[in-house]
Amino acid sequence: MGGQRRGTREGQEITIVEVGPRDGLQHEPITVSTEAKVAFVNTLSRSGVAEIEVGSFVSPRAVPQLADTDEVFSRIDRLPGVRYSALVPNERGWARAREVGVEKIALFTAASETFAKRNINCTIGESLARFTPVVSAAKQDGVIVRGYVSTITHCPFEGPVPPSKVLDVAGRLLDLGVDEISLGETMGMAVPRDIRRLLDHVVRAIPVTVLSLHLHDTYGLGVANVLVAWEEYGLCSFDASAGGLGGCPFAPGAAGNVATEDVVYALRASGATVAVDDTMVVQAATQIEGVLDHPLTSRVSKVLRQKAKSAVHGQTGP
Ligand code: HMG
Ligand code: MG
Repeated sequence: MGGQRRGTREGQEITIVEVGPRDGLQHEPITVSTEAKVAFVNTLSRSGVAEIEVGSFVSPRAVPQLADTDEVFSRIDRLPGVRYSALVPNERGWARAREVGVEKIALFTAASETFAKRNINCTIGESLARFTPVVSAAKQDGVIVRGYVSTITHCPFEGPVPPSKVLDVAGRLLDLGVDEISLGETMGMAVPRDIRRLLDHVVRAIPVTVLSLHLHDTYGLGVANVLVAWEEYGLCSFDASAGGLGGCPFAPGAAGNVATEDVVYALRASGATVAVDDTMVVQAATQIEGVLDHPLTSRVSKVLRQKAKSAVHGQTGP
């Protein structure tokens, strides 16, 4: 399926799902205050991203950093045109999400049994059984449902993951009635060859219009993988986090998500249409970096901050 000419993609519109407030902040050693989370989401809301994953309705013992997701949801300014979503692992999480009027939920499982066990304490089959009543209840309420498949290429415990396993789990999620699939490269280890091998398999059976790619960037190849997925396979929806925040506490060694501003730069410079204001994303990243105890990793953030400084001092550059 790969290999479609790049020229045919010119101008295609890209959807960015900003996952920093959830995937980013779940992995920070410190718990960010509710107030700082609300401010972060509110700045991101003004950046033009289509969706913001605000938090998780998971066990507060499993992820204490996001225990206040209910409160964050009730305090953010929800702007028209932006979708606000959250992770839900089970019926309990669904009840919490419903209580605060979440318009889209994301269920999450994996293509590797060991990761599923470590992350959500059940087998893949059990996770799908847990999701069944949640999907039907959400549908009844008109709530959109995303299904994540983690460990699409590498599992931290089992090593390489076969594409057939990913397709199997994604297909079973779609059979349950989820509206879209996010393919999670949890470890950030994939190179373009891995992404091609996976997508050759997956896009034969699943339309690209229901796929998102969720890349971590441990080895710095996230942007290269985004470009392969868009240029060669026509995927148009990408998860990313402002500044490159992120990681999964249950995936040892994994770094943050590919940075939103880096993805925006790479796709736009390659001819895609991306309705995201990268300076606003950088503003959000700078804001959240101010309450963390380490710098964020985005290259584009560095460049844009440097440019802003140079402009103040009357210098110019590329
Ligand atoms: P469990 O222990 O099997 O579930 O956890 P349980 O039903 O036996 O409940 C255990 C305790 O959790 C009980 O409390 C429940 O009430 C409570 P206790 O009686 O012991 O005090 N509980 C809850 N509390 C609040 N909200 C809930 C909820 N459910 C149970 N919804 C469970 C199973 C899935 C709940 C647990 O393992 C969990 O919460 N895991 C969190 C996993 C997680 O958030 N991982 C990170 C996100 S996934 C990710 O990052 C990957 C992704 O980014 C894609 C990629 O990169 O690949 C999406
Ligand atoms: Mg992730």
